[in-house]
Amino acid sequence: MSLTSTRETSHAGVASEAAARLMHRCKLLARCTEKPGEILRTFLSPAVDDVHRAIRPWMEAAGMSVAVDRVGNLRGLYPAEGGENTPRLLIGSHLDTVPNAGAYDGVLGVLMGLALVEASGERRYPFAIEVLGFSDEEGTRFGAPFLGSRAVVGELEGGLLECVDAGGVSVAQALRSYAAQRPETVAATLSDKSAAYVEFHIEQGPVLESRNLALGIVEGLAGQSRCSVEFRGQAGHAGTNPMKLRKDALAGAAEWMMGVEAIARRFENGVATVGQIAAEPGGVNVIPGVVRCSLDVRHAEDGVRCAIVRAIFEEAHAVAARRGLQAEVAQYHEHPAVRLDAGLVGLTERAAGQSGYATIRMTSGAGHDAMVIAPRVPSAMVFLRSPGGISHHPDESVAEADVAAAVHMGLIFLDEFTTYARGKD
Ligand code: GLV
Ligand code: MN
Ligand code: MN
Repeated sequence: MSLTSTRETSHAGVASEAAARLMHRCKLLARCTEKPGEILRTFLSPAVDDVHRAIRPWMEAAGMSVAVDRVGNLRGLYPAEGGENTPRLLIGSHLDTVPNAGAYDGVLGVLMGLALVEASGERRYPFAIEVLGFSDEEGTRFGAPFLGSRAVVGELEGGLLECVDAGGVSVAQALRSYAAQRPETVAATLSDKSAAYVEFHIEQGPVLESRNLALGIVEGLAGQSRCSVEFRGQAGHAGTNPMKLRKDALAGAAEWMMGVEAIARRFENGVATVGQIAAEPGGVNVIPGVVRCSLDVRHAEDGVRCAIVRAIFEEAHAVAARRGLQAEVAQYHEHPAVRLDAGLVGLTERAAGQSGYATIRMTSGAGHDAMVIAPRVPSAMVFLRSPGGISHHPDESVAEADVAAAVHMGLIFLDEFTTYARGKD
């Protein structure tokens, strides 16, 4: 048996044990929630503290030193064989969730980092490995996503700090009280020795399954816009106002939403979603006077995304004008499309190939922490097949065999990264 195939055989054995452990851990962490009966973990919530408390001893047992930073990111550091002045490989994803989430979105990528450290046994690499569990990627609490990763690249500032949650608490206030209650938290920065960032994540779509592939290599991520659209009409009595004399804000919003769907369909690969709608005053016998809607628009080309947003905003004004309503539109978050690092993408692709897994290159329609880290630190992403393409849903899942494939390729990646890191030293 050649040296390489001996290595592959031993990696494969370790990988299947690691995958079983990881699946079990995802199920355990799914119990950490702020809403009984469903998985919900929002930025800086006690449920995220519970996740930290669960992961910390696993990390410590694997020889990592563990800290939480001032924006609530969990950070485990596995030292390099060559002391402190060595490059650092970052492996991470997020620990927060959408409402009524599945058990793998984000968590899987954090536990993959830990699994790779554990599966390395006592072995040290000529680079340190930092496993990052970001505190917010979904934006569930404040509407604005990536708060954890944006903080570590120095982009949690300005208007972002003024976003407020449903209780009127701003990001700045939430961070102040979080850090005040936890004097042990460390600075939310990245080491200047950070040489690369790798994120493993479930695909959250059907492509890998349709191609019968366990793993995909992400080349780039679609840009995204998050917006708010408000319609104002005239609230009034549901029984006394003839239809033609009404200014019903909710009927206007409904007409606009049909337009949102039609506009997104006009642009190839364009997607636009109204995920939240709130009507006031909310009485069964009251004509809605004010309606607030969210809007999420994505496309791999920023120019196309901006054109979709413009068309949707124009549609809001056109509907409002026809119905005697007022429309107010605003884009409060934008992230441009991101290309991942060609060298690192190639390295992940070769590692998958050497572990015996065919892959395809993909563009992610979902947002990931990698898109925030990539402009600062060369980044790569690996997707794991999502059964049924289901995600952001309690039925979200991943096959243990696909996790084993990811751990196997990850171990080869670590071997190959040794040479890459030497070049950076
Ligand atoms: C997060 O999953 C997003 O893509 O919004
Ligand atoms: Mn998600
Ligand atoms: Mn995610």
